[in-house]
Amino acid sequence: MSIQQTLKKKIDEKRQGEILSPAKKKHLSKKMYIESYGCQMNFSDSEIVASILEKEGFSPTSDITKADLVFVNTCSIREKAENTVRKRLEFYNSIKKKKNQKMIVGVLGCMAERLKNKLLEQEKLVDIVIGPDAYRDLPKLVKEAEDGKKAVNVFLSLEETYADINPVRLNGNGVTAFVSITRGCDNMCTFCVVPYTRGRERSRDPKSIIQECQQLLKQGYKEVTLLGQNVDSYLWYGGGAKKDFIKASITAKESSVNFAQLLEKIAEINPELRVRFSTSNPQDMSLEVIQAIKKHPNICKYIHLPVQSGSSKILKLMNRGYNREQYLKLIDNIKKEIPECAISMDIITGFCNETQEDHKATLSLMDYVQYDYGYMFKYSERPNTIAQKKLTDNISEETKQKRLEEIIKKQSQHSLINMKKKIGKKYEVLVEGVSKRSSTHFYGRTTHNATVIFEKENVKIGEYVMVEILDCTSATLIGKIANNG
Ligand code: 5AD
Ligand code: SF4
Repeated sequence: MSIQQTLKKKIDEKRQGEILSPAKKKHLSKKMYIESYGCQMNFSDSEIVASILEKEGFSPTSDITKADLVFVNTCSIREKAENTVRKRLEFYNSIKKKKNQKMIVGVLGCMAERLKNKLLEQEKLVDIVIGPDAYRDLPKLVKEAEDGKKAVNVFLSLEETYADINPVRLNGNGVTAFVSITRGCDNMCTFCVVPYTRGRERSRDPKSIIQECQQLLKQGYKEVTLLGQNVDSYLWYGGGAKKDFIKASITAKESSVNFAQLLEKIAEINPELRVRFSTSNPQDMSLEVIQAIKKHPNICKYIHLPVQSGSSKILKLMNRGYNREQYLKLIDNIKKEIPECAISMDIITGFCNETQEDHKATLSLMDYVQYDYGYMFKYSERPNTIAQKKLTDNISEETKQKRLEEIIKKQSQHSLINMKKKIGKKYEVLVEGVSKRSSTHFYGRTTHNATVIFEKENVKIGEYVMVEILDCTSATLIGKIANNG
């Protein structure tokens, strides 16, 4: 067992010892199985859920057939994501029937919030339905479900940030961890279901964020990713919804903390702790944030900056709050201040009224930016969004698919060009684990979020190592440990 694993075991044992009240020990032998879909935020939320349930005496299992409690943390962002979850729920139910009739199945997250008790009553797929702001209520709901009652809580909060909950790191590598800093979103992009499923935007107390990062460092973690639907909009003024900042006292306003300030505070914890963040929003990203990234070597030189479309007409229909020129100006500013900064995007293709000309504008924007990575999607109309109510999903599936293929092709060309530029150079890589393809190789990432595979030699997981890049694909760098740094 490595020092890191021993340390983790000790911490886990200490935690178990501290938190189990006699009443809660009755669940001691019970197992929970949690599966997460969708964004990083969901994976982070599942760690909060695991922490709440661990205090009730449930311990995680990776074997679903042994689970007393099965939770699926769900995503509603596209119809396809919801269909995948439905299939999983059907699968859980078949296991329940065949292997363990007492098994409780619960749905967490965005689908729970969107469909509410429909999943429970009409579709009869689950025993518990619980929205993203109601996880503190889990002990009560589990009890209700155990007693055969319908257990639902989809209340959305203006304050909840789970600031005091110490997440249980599920399936982690012991090196990198997610730390959530904001919840909800106020942006109201017309295509997006998130403001409805995750509620109003609120920020978490910086003290608790810093404490969590310090604790992770003590446990041997070397990288934190600060999470939020729109991290640039982070604003702490003592708690509460961002929309209510305007009503805050002058003292609260004067002592408020914005994202650039938070980022600097976290970077200053320790130069050995890398800091990443996601997702940035072009309409809220400030020059102050760019300066903070530039100033601190341990803030990773990588920005995920979804553009969604290269056409100002479409951006307006999407209510993105910026046009093509403003987005490109932001890109120019980033490249001017941090020339080597990697940039990635999200693009939606085939949004309502998108013409061939709009699509060409997206392709030309991609040519200008030359993104390092990209996440590209066909528009999927979501019930009750502004786009669904006010616009028509009038681009055929065929055209959506054709346009998607074109942008994917372009992106893989750009990714390859950017990766090839790294051949022959040396980069500092944080060693994250053993390569899935070869047990004699490690994988890790550069500051630019590029994955590097290299022979193990005598380095250890969790160490920083200089790696010389020898070759690449459009997704991975292949290198060898450089002898003299
Ligand atoms: N259809 C397709 N893609 C969507 N996204 C959000 N909503 C939709 C939708 N209705 C994409 C956006 C966002 C990413 C997380 O998911 O590109 O940035
Ligand atoms: Fe959805 Fe827009 Fe908020 Fe992102 S910024 S979560 S796309 S509403």
